Amino acid sequence: MNYSSLLIDIADGAAVVTINRPAALNALNAVILEELTAAFAELKGNNAVACVILTGSGAKAFVAGADIAAMQPLDAVAAGQFARLGHAVLNDIEKFPKPVIAAVNGFALGGGCELAMACDIRIAAENARFGQPEVNLGVIPGFGGTLRLSRLVGKGRAKELIFTGDMIDAQEAYRIGLANKVVAAEDLLAAARSMAAKIASKGPVAVRFAKESVDNGLEMDLDRAGRFEADLFGLCFATADQKEGMQAFLDKRPAKFTGR
Ligand code: HXC
Repeated sequence: MNYSSLLIDIADGAAVVTINRPAALNALNAVILEELTAAFAELKGNNAVACVILTGSGAKAFVAGADIAAMQPLDAVAAGQFARLGHAVLNDIEKFPKPVIAAVNGFALGGGCELAMACDIRIAAENARFGQPEVNLGVIPGFGGTLRLSRLVGKGRAKELIFTGDMIDAQEAYRIGLANKVVAAEDLLAAARSMAAKIASKGPVAVRFAKESVDNGLEMDLDRAGRFEADLFGLCFATADQKEGMQAFLDKRPAKFTGR
């Protein structure tokens, strides 16, 4: 499929999806949101893709938020619809059956921070800036920011960031657990590709089950979550990858996973 606002580059098991609207610091409008839905649906069934890396075009921004000019004239019904569209896209990314790494190459503000948080892992360039500045505009985060930020960094820190609208740098994001690691800006894509390649070398079914167990487990009580994890562990033994992975260990050789 051809996209007007996304670039997609597939190599070595990873698809790099670049939001390509640098003149507006990659601000999210309805077109970009709909294209993200289509792109993830397309990548889901592509066996050449084990991991997705999401980033922004240009040196300045990952995504500087939802498009303020497009939102300004909306009425309450249309604004609610726009928020629901964003939720649907970010939920698709969160539930995507392969790992999604955000390569945060600059501002990740408002909807941009929310988009990064829907990804499994965030690698930040040294110049990355994170924040939920919606209160500066008289609104609240509307693409899941109040939910995902509090789950990622805890309620107190989330409330401070959301109530003050403060921007934090990459090191502070790392310190509070919003970023998994910080790398030099010129190394960002290589670092994301290297992590994607490492993940792609593992058993794909196991990685998918692990993602499901972490994400679903956090929403369940420990008793149910434990049973869910144990069921998925059992299901691994219905795969060729489990036989191969354990046999390879016993044979003292690297495993050759097939995803079956
Ligand atoms: C629309 C945006 C934008 C945005 C930047 N631009 N952010 N357009 N929506 N969110 C545009 C600017 O208007 C400008 O266009 C161009 O990008 C470059 O931005 P500048 O402001 O000139 O750059 P700079 O001075 O370096 O400042 C960078 C910045 C600032 C600090 C990131 O742009 C900024 O504060 N942006 C808004 C951040 C924000 O509030 N995000 C949250 C949005 S609300 P022109 O045409 O003038 O060159 C949100 C809600 C999500 O995300 C939930 C919705 C339901």
